[in-house]
Amino acid sequence: MRRIAIFASGGGSNARKIMERFQHHPDIRVALVVSNKRDAGVLAIAAEFGVDTLVINRLCFYETEALLGELRARAVDFVVLAGFLWLAPAYLVAAYPRRILNIHPALLPKYGGKGMYGRHVHEAVKAAGETETGMTIHYVNERYDEGNILFQATCPVLPEDTPETIAHNVLALEHRYYPEVVERLVNELPG
Ligand code: GRF
Repeated sequence: MRRIAIFASGGGSNARKIMERFQHHPDIRVALVVSNKRDAGVLAIAAEFGVDTLVINRLCFYETEALLGELRARAVDFVVLAGFLWLAPAYLVAAYPRRILNIHPALLPKYGGKGMYGRHVHEAVKAAGETETGMTIHYVNERYDEGNILFQATCPVLPEDTPETIAHNVLALEHRYYPEVVERLVNELPG
C-alpha cells in the first residue's frame, strides 16, 4: 500500500478529487491532509472521507522537523501539494526526493513565483493578452514553482474571457488531470 499526504490551505477542490480517486483504490490511500489554516475548507473535506488531518503553524514547519515524524508515523510515501502556498523547507524536500508534487494554474515557467497564485495568475495572463493558458504539475524543490515539469495541459484564452472564466477553465483541467498524474507517479515509485 502506498500512502499519500495532501498539503492544502484553501477550498480543497483538487484535494477532494484526489481523495475521491483513491477512496476505494486497492494500492493507494490518502493517509493525511496537512493544512496551515485551522479553518481551511479542505479539513472538512478530509473529515468527509475519514482522512486524518493535521494543522501546522509556521514555527513548527520552518523551525522544527516535527512534521517528518507525523509523516513517518503514517508511513507516507508521497506528498501532493494542492493549493498550499508555503515554500517547502529543505528538510522536507530532502526527505521526499522526487516525491513531492505541486500544481500551478498556469503554463510554467510563465506566471510562476512568489505572489503568483489564485486570481493574480489569471489577471496577469489576461493583461498580457495570452491566447492560451493552462496548468502545470511539477516536482517541488526549495524555490517557488521551479521544480522539474512533469505534465501540462492547455486551454484557449478567448478575447471575451475574464480572469474568472480563465480560472474556471484552468481549475477544470486541474481536476481532470491531477488525480491521474498522481496515480501514475505513485505507481512508478521504486521499491
Ligand atoms: C489551484 O488552482 C492550484 O493550481 C493552486 O491552488 C489552487 C487550489 O485550489 N496551487 P483548490 O483549493 O484545490 O480548489
